[in-house]
Amino acid sequence: MYQIDQIDFSYGREEVLKAVSFNVHKGSFVSVIGPNGSGKTTLLKNMCKLLEPNAGHINLEQKSVNDYKAKQFAQKVAVVHQGANSDFDFNVGEVVLMGRYPYLRRFQNEGTLDLEIAIKSMQQTQTYHLKDKTLLSISGGERQRVMIARALTQEPEVLLLDEPISHLDIKYQMEILKLCKDLNQSQNITVFTTLHDINLASRFSKVIIMMKEGKIYKMGTPDEVITAKNIKEVYDIDVEIVYNSYPMILPI
Ligand SMILES: Nc1ncnc2c1ncn2[C@@H]1O[C@H](COP(=O)(O)OP(=O)(O)OP(=O)(O)O)[C@@H](O)[C@H]1O
Ligand SMILES: [Mg+2]
Repeated sequence: MYQIDQIDFSYGREEVLKAVSFNVHKGSFVSVIGPNGSGKTTLLKNMCKLLEPNAGHINLEQKSVNDYKAKQFAQKVAVVHQGANSDFDFNVGEVVLMGRYPYLRRFQNEGTLDLEIAIKSMQQTQTYHLKDKTLLSISGGERQRVMIARALTQEPEVLLLDEPISHLDIKYQMEILKLCKDLNQSQNITVFTTLHDINLASRFSKVIIMMKEGKIYKMGTPDEVITAKNIKEVYDIDVEIVYNSYPMILPI
């Protein structure tokens, strides 16, 4: 689905991504973990064309992301940014419906089908009851779920999520990750998400990318990546690994 080939990225003189390469297979569930500042958000922004690499290539289904028109790209890839916020105080319902934009022609209004899709996305993220509230009058966690609802309304093939559960209470952390897993399994939607919670990344992901200082330190299955040695090398903490059906860390 996605091929990331030797990308470098710098903000000014500060080199943040260094020769990053990996592939994301269609239908995969990939989590990116790594300490603050290791380059996760920068990587995701390069993948969604918000930033352009200084070197290397990013292809989506064998075609450079640069060769996609904005709407065409948005029909395939939906993004939820870290701490996503809006300066405008739109209604929740309006914001979610905006997810249909890639499917509308210029000046075309949303139709019944678009509304139905938006309502379904709100139901899936349990935000339908908020539809008449404004974005500024709901909580941070509710807003995060609204942004996910908008992404789902895009009916994407790939969901790119940057810390999608960072403001959520434990119930909604599970709800959102279970929803992602369900979309991944039942609709073959490719999920690519950054996560700070190593144990949840381990539980939900098929593949984990562990970043350190702008490079991929390790990529593989949770069993391969979540080891006491790797966690020590990347986070500089000592942990015990407890096995469930997936490895979990217990800081010691
Ligand atoms: N707009 C920017 N201008 C300059 N430097 C930036 C900018 N955004 C990020 N950086 C720097 O790039 C590095 C990587 O940041 P990035 O946001 O990609 O990290 P991250 O892994 O997502 O961290 P976090 O876990 O805190 O979200 C950091 O050193 C950061 O200070
Ligand atoms: Mg980040």
